Amino acid sequence: MRIVIIGSGNVACHLIQAFCKTNATLFVHARNATALDELKSEFPSVTILSDFNLTKTDADLVLISVKDNALNAVFQQYTYAPKTLVAHTSGTQIIENTGFHQNAGVFYPLQTFSKASIVNWKNTPMLIEASSEEGIQKLEQAAALLQAPYFETNAEQRKYIHLTAVLTSNFTNHLLGKAAEILKEHVVDYHILQPLVEATVKKAFAKHPFEVQTGPALRNDTSTINKHLSLLQSDTLLQKIYTDLTESIQKTSNLDTNNE
Ligand SMILES: NC(=O)c1ccc[n+]([C@@H]2O[C@H](COP(=O)([O-])OP(=O)(O)OC[C@H]3O[C@@H](n4cnc5c(N)ncnc54)[C@H](OP(=O)(O)O)[C@@H]3O)[C@@H](O)[C@H]2O)c1
Repeated sequence: MRIVIIGSGNVACHLIQAFCKTNATLFVHARNATALDELKSEFPSVTILSDFNLTKTDADLVLISVKDNALNAVFQQYTYAPKTLVAHTSGTQIIENTGFHQNAGVFYPLQTFSKASIVNWKNTPMLIEASSEEGIQKLEQAAALLQAPYFETNAEQRKYIHLTAVLTSNFTNHLLGKAAEILKEHVVDYHILQPLVEATVKKAFAKHPFEVQTGPALRNDTSTINKHLSLLQSDTLLQKIYTDLTESIQKTSNLDTNNE
């Protein structure tokens, strides 16, 4: 399979690293010359492209992995052969103005990527979308090269998958960061929370999350809730998050707090 990757950020670099280990023929184009030099020395088998005409690569697939707000401008900068499927890696975007190249799709890895971290592709669901069966097959083939499980979705489903990914991954991570800061202030290593957090996630996927909810909000333990809110006095935003989540847990479990 002949694949062009556009971009040199977190996702692009992990894709390049992973496709380099397969029998795919890999080309890369990006605006960041320093990043391209680094990629060339790390992955000598990759061909670095120097112009925007991709027709010469005879590519089956072009993967655009750039910042969401640059996607459509970047898409329109290149010339593609008609048979080439052009897909992006965003959870939220669509390729617009496909007038000059309609063979477009999505190859969205439902995972969190940082350059320094290791990616387990076998544990990275690839959400794929394309307007033709041939396009879907190309994306399936690319996912199979990465040994990643793949799921055909549509733009509407991807919107909600991305929303729930933010709720469960980004927000959870932010709360973990806030917890680490609080514990550091009180000279406690936040890893003390690790068994609890891991057990919570494990249970939430073994059962339905609402079935295994615990804590003062569910018990409507007003005395503990008020103590916690006073401990958060110096961080009014986190105090608000605590109050809002408490209310959401209570509403979800149909607790009538006015009767307490
Ligand atoms: N990070 C994640 O966890 C994750 C997970 C799933 C999907 N995604 C999606 O994958 C895509 C890339 O994300 P990322 O985290 O890899 O981003 P990133 O690390 O911030 O890298 C963004 C890339 O876009 C390039 N870029 C930005 N504006 C550009 C422009 N106007 N023209 C050309 N190139 C431009 C940057 O080039 P410079 O270096 O020159 O700025 C860089 O190569 C996004 O659609 C994102 O939503 C990300």
